Amino acid sequence: MPQSLFSEFQVSPNTTLKNRFVKAAMEENLANDQQLPDKKLFNLYQQWADGGVGLIITGNVMIDKWAMTGPGGVALEQTTPLAPFKKWAEIAKSNNTKVWMQLNHPGRQVFKAMGGKNLAPSAIAINLGKHSNMFSIPQAMIEEEIQDIIHRFGQSALQAKQAGFDGVEIHAAHGYLLAQFLSPLTNQRSDQWGGSLTNRARLLLEVIKQVRAICGADFDVAVKLNSADFQRGGFDIADAEQVINWLAEHNVNLVELSGGSYEAPAMQGQSADDRTLAREAYFLDFTEKLVQRSPIPLMLTGGIQRYAVAQKVINAGFSLCGLATALAYRPDMINMWFKTPEFRLRIPVITWSNKTLAALATMAIIKRQLSRMSLGDTPKLTDSPFLSLLIDQIKKRRRTKRYRRQLRGSSQLP
Ligand SMILES: Cc1cc2nc3c(=O)[nH]c(=O)nc-3n(C[C@H](O)[C@H](O)[C@H](O)COP(=O)(O)O)c2cc1C
Repeated sequence: MPQSLFSEFQVSPNTTLKNRFVKAAMEENLANDQQLPDKKLFNLYQQWADGGVGLIITGNVMIDKWAMTGPGGVALEQTTPLAPFKKWAEIAKSNNTKVWMQLNHPGRQVFKAMGGKNLAPSAIAINLGKHSNMFSIPQAMIEEEIQDIIHRFGQSALQAKQAGFDGVEIHAAHGYLLAQFLSPLTNQRSDQWGGSLTNRARLLLEVIKQVRAICGADFDVAVKLNSADFQRGGFDIADAEQVINWLAEHNVNLVELSGGSYEAPAMQGQSADDRTLAREAYFLDFTEKLVQRSPIPLMLTGGIQRYAVAQKVINAGFSLCGLATALAYRPDMINMWFKTPEFRLRIPVITWSNKTLAALATMAIIKRQLSRMSLGDTPKLTDSPFLSLLIDQIKKRRRTKRYRRQLRGSSQLP
């Protein structure tokens, strides 16, 4: 029998969600200059908690403050002061909402302008055609650096637990470090961390083992995984099925399925291998078999902006529906749907022929809404993509300068 979107879901022995709607991770770039959450993030998360979702997954939080996906991001290390994180968790948990912190390491997806560490399984640069010079060639990681990553994920997860988060989601999708290890296109190592799928998945599984060992069984651990990279020769759906089985053996509570990377932004509905992705719930047809066979609960994210589509996702066997873009425009979307399931937003789609710029403008226009909400203003559906991209670039430049100044003053980098 299909489940109601407003029915409870027990995701782990400790955590029961009040409904099936999840605020998926969105990097906000709203941290203060110590890379900590403060008033702006608190305002934003209060709106999402009030808006009716059962679970909030934070924007990605970096496990190493010198390896950042972007300027203005949050970092949580072993020695980071916990007070602002406690406040963040407390706000996100209001209105009977649960909260997981997403933990991430960018690997090679670090903009050249940012500087800092640029590490990857192999020294293979990002290929974005004429925009490739936004990134530099990463350094292939040595064993000590791999061990450091495992240690850091464990310590950041422990910090999240101590701050009051209900769990963590380990980001192993979208072309970041753990996804780079999983993909044969970016991982060409010949040691125990590369080659067979067993070896390519080793880092992710070691991270999970470490987090479980340090945080115990009474803390939720989820993974965001690509159903595929959507690039020829990349991590594919058969790999995803095997990895989900391994994650289940390691007591992971839930896997969120997404897809793509900076090179192939399938999470925005674009594939690089000629596959056509649906306009709504992009990965639903593609992941049908995964959901039928998965031994653990799955969540689907990508292109869910209508109640009827969310219901289709649950009817297909997914336990939870992740929404990002829709909640950037309407943080109270779930409350709206509770009263009026037909309620629909007309979110503009950017159809520029330059796919890289279109992807950047899409991110910029959504982040502009997050920024508005962080200041207590209301999102707007009528922003110009071009102007939003320009504003984003100006803000990015300013924040990047600030970050680089700190980087220069740091004694932690070689
Ligand atoms: C502004 C923005 C920031 C994002 N940041 C993250 C992130 O930090 N971690 C992550 O896993 N996904 C991130 N995503 C991807 C979303 O979680 C989601 O997978 C994607 O947007 C598709 O869902 P949607 O169609 O509901 O937006 C981000 C998306 C947007 C638009």
